[in-house]
Amino acid sequence: MNVLVIGMGYVGTTTGLVLCEQGHKVIGLDIDKNKINSLNDGKLYFYEKGLDELLISHLNRENITFTTESMDAIQSSDIIFICVGTPKNEDGKADLQYVREVAMLIGRYINNYKLIVIKSTVPVGTAETVTNIIMENNRDHIPFDVVSNPEFLREGNALSDATNPDRIVIGSSNMEAAKMVSELFTKMTAPIVMTTSKTAELVKYASNSFLALKISFINELSTLCDRMNIDIDEISMGMGLDHRIGPYFLKAGLGYGGSCFPKDVDALLTTSKEYGVNLSILEQVVSINESKPLYFIEKVSRTLGELKNKRIAVLGLAFKSGTDDTRESPSLRIIEYLLNAQSIVRVHDPVVTTSMKEVEQFTNVIDTVRDVDAVLICTDWEEYKQLDWSKVKEVVKQPFVFDGRNILNKDELTKVGIHYYGIGKP
Ligand SMILES: NC(=O)c1ccc[n+]([C@@H]2O[C@H](COP(=O)([O-])OP(=O)(O)OC[C@H]3O[C@@H](n4cnc5c(N)ncnc54)[C@H](O)[C@@H]3O)[C@@H](O)[C@H]2O)c1
Repeated sequence: MNVLVIGMGYVGTTTGLVLCEQGHKVIGLDIDKNKINSLNDGKLYFYEKGLDELLISHLNRENITFTTESMDAIQSSDIIFICVGTPKNEDGKADLQYVREVAMLIGRYINNYKLIVIKSTVPVGTAETVTNIIMENNRDHIPFDVVSNPEFLREGNALSDATNPDRIVIGSSNMEAAKMVSELFTKMTAPIVMTTSKTAELVKYASNSFLALKISFINELSTLCDRMNIDIDEISMGMGLDHRIGPYFLKAGLGYGGSCFPKDVDALLTTSKEYGVNLSILEQVVSINESKPLYFIEKVSRTLGELKNKRIAVLGLAFKSGTDDTRESPSLRIIEYLLNAQSIVRVHDPVVTTSMKEVEQFTNVIDTVRDVDAVLICTDWEEYKQLDWSKVKEVVKQPFVFDGRNILNKDELTKVGIHYYGIGKP
């Protein structure tokens, strides 16, 4: 199959390379020339483990090419995957401008039958909207089908998730079209859920909202653990062993971030209001999540006193380990609070370079923590788990470590003379 993937972001680039692995010829299209030039040079412009090797391998074998020329790309493909961004609008809704633009181009340039697959996370009814836009621009009435196939990969684990998904959801009113999409994934063993487009679209929002709910549940419970002197990680372990609950997304921390959970929960809330339904549980999920960075800062200031002129090291800028994505990262909220309190902020991240002028960034942890009053762990990078904390103790001004991700061992840090504070920890 000749497959076109539109939108060379995290999802589109991963999807394109995974389709190459499945034996298809792929064109990757994006409007951003810099991204396309970088990909054509064999350089991934974002950080995602395993993907750069795959990119070079498929470029060398001419299984994938990248372009900004939409007409040629659309006309030379049989199947088109839409993977453009659907960011949050000011009113909380998903912004469909990029999806609409792509649909318009497909309608304008369609030259023979095309199967159009929507991978972007889109509100219920978008497959219909895309169909209508293509029809309006498709003057010669060339046949096409639109199928919903939401993506469930996680940044930091994108390749493995896209290659071994838990399930493949395919939504369409046309069984033939849905079958054609399922045939693209014959090498995968995941169960395939065949359903309507509307159901497929809602499954995606429901899944992300439920995962966000699990995170907010454990985060709120961690506040109770703080008061009761009980270890939240032991609670999570005890709960997670129950198969009905499962161990995932039960790690207490600073709250969820990234490009998906915040916007997807908001989008589902907005949709539900349009239908006159109040998903109050999700309102609580959002409000608990928004409270976590401030709760953490309050913990720091209860110990350090006034934060003005205190030197604070923030370890981690990415919203989670394994990615350089800082969209909606709790770490950035924490830095904002510290700067407002006039602290002197020093930051480190193994893969993110910040453009913030008000902070000083270092390339190694020991330089970052030199002479600081406190160290704040904001991203769960392996590097911080593996750190020799006795060396940290030697160079800091005050030995306070606030672990916003509960990744360190309190006993080991205490042994080297560090005062350790976790989330929901005795
Ligand atoms: N990032 C994730 O972890 C993840 C996981 C599952 C689903 N999703 C969903 O997948 C979609 C894409 O997410 P992402 O993180 O890859 O986004 P992204 O912002 O990283 O990439 C989107 C790309 O689309 C390109 N684009 C915009 N308009 C275009 C056009 N007219 N023609 C060609 N390219 C165009 C942009 O230049 C950009 O490179 C979103 O709907 C998101 O919610 C994301």
